[in-house]
Amino acid sequence: MPALTAHAAPPLAGTVTPPGDKSISHRALMLGGLAVGRTLIEGLLEGDDVLRTAAAMAALGAAVRRLGAGAWQVDGVGLGGLVEPAEVLDMGNSGTGARLLMGVLAGHPLTAIMTGDASLNRRPMARVTEPLARMGAQFVGRAGGRLPLAVVGARDPLPIEYRLPVPSAQVKSAILLAGLSAPGETTVIEPEPTRDHSERLLGHFGAEVRVVDAADGSRRVTVIGQPELIARPVVVPGDPSSAAFPLVAALIVPGSVVTIANVGLNPLRTGLIDTLREMGGQIEVVNPRIAGGEPVGDLVVRHSALRGVTVPAARAPSMIDEYPVLAIAAACAEGRTVMRGLAELRVKESDRLAAIARGLAANGVAFEAGPDSLAVSGGPRVPGGGLVATAMDHRIAMSFLVLGLVADRPVTVDDDHMIDTSFPGFRALMTGLGAIFADEAAA
Ligand code: S3P
Repeated sequence: MPALTAHAAPPLAGTVTPPGDKSISHRALMLGGLAVGRTLIEGLLEGDDVLRTAAAMAALGAAVRRLGAGAWQVDGVGLGGLVEPAEVLDMGNSGTGARLLMGVLAGHPLTAIMTGDASLNRRPMARVTEPLARMGAQFVGRAGGRLPLAVVGARDPLPIEYRLPVPSAQVKSAILLAGLSAPGETTVIEPEPTRDHSERLLGHFGAEVRVVDAADGSRRVTVIGQPELIARPVVVPGDPSSAAFPLVAALIVPGSVVTIANVGLNPLRTGLIDTLREMGGQIEVVNPRIAGGEPVGDLVVRHSALRGVTVPAARAPSMIDEYPVLAIAAACAEGRTVMRGLAELRVKESDRLAAIARGLAANGVAFEAGPDSLAVSGGPRVPGGGLVATAMDHRIAMSFLVLGLVADRPVTVDDDHMIDTSFPGFRALMTGLGAIFADEAAA
């Protein structure tokens, strides 16, 4: 395993552009594959997760071609036109790729077998197979519906109305994608709204999507089935979940001033920015604009004296992937930062709550972890010196490397190769700002 160590850094400075949004990249490839005509995608994330989705869509009959850096073209087969794949679909580390593709496959009368890496094959899939089975698809998987798993898509899928038992954009999206193939209206009710990239992109490709907000804060999302999806150009903004790493690094490394350009600012993704501002973080949005149907801006971030806050549980869906790096900001903040409503962290690429706790403990940061909560007691000095087990989780690796930039002693992550799943070029981008990373012999 390639171990990497982060050392205390001088002030970070410069302008960086994070890679393309992972969520939007998966969706653009899938919808491009289901549309009639040629979809041109700009700014696609070329991380392993998304490359797996590109390969899967190609195995299902779409012609997927890389034209240049981030520039891809997809010749779609039209809704209903996917072909049975000759080989097992290997989705690598990607829960989003696997779950959304299950929705696509559920509405096509073909049999496909899906697998993933050791992390993905441990993750719960019943949350998608259960509603998709109600629509008529069949699944044979391991206990808990886990991968490897065989999908037999429905010849005549049924539209359903489904209330999400967990706030999950992946589950919502899988149902909406299957609903494309069903006659009539497929509705997902979300008790707490989650990222709406599927809704936006479905509309962009010509599907009719209705979104109704209820007085109790829940949201009804309806797709009208059997549309003709028409190829459309897609411009993918920078991923706010990747921007989070240079963002927190700039806030905690004394003297830093960093600009992060072209960051997606969809309001259902900006919980981390809201929280860091409440903590005293100086984050300015400049040049706000709409690109590819999504709000985008540049962030100017300055080192700030952070203080602990309580993060409301209701904010979790809008920053679900950002808790590991928020825990790092909290370790550097004066006082206690309390995070609640974290149950979903247990079923991410790793049990993230446990992985954060282990990493904080290894680096001398005081915290209390509950079944779905974390309270971090921070301060201006972080001892560091720990070896962090990344547990095949890219965000754990990147988060603790950020901690190493301010800790008294270097912080080592045991394995940095998973970073490429979501943030290829992380190391170069961070060292370009002044971060100091060094390869270590494997521990
Ligand atoms: C994603 C949704 C989230 C998030 C994941 C990407 C998506 O997962 O953690 O990284 O693209 O829909 P859940 O839907 O499981 O919360």
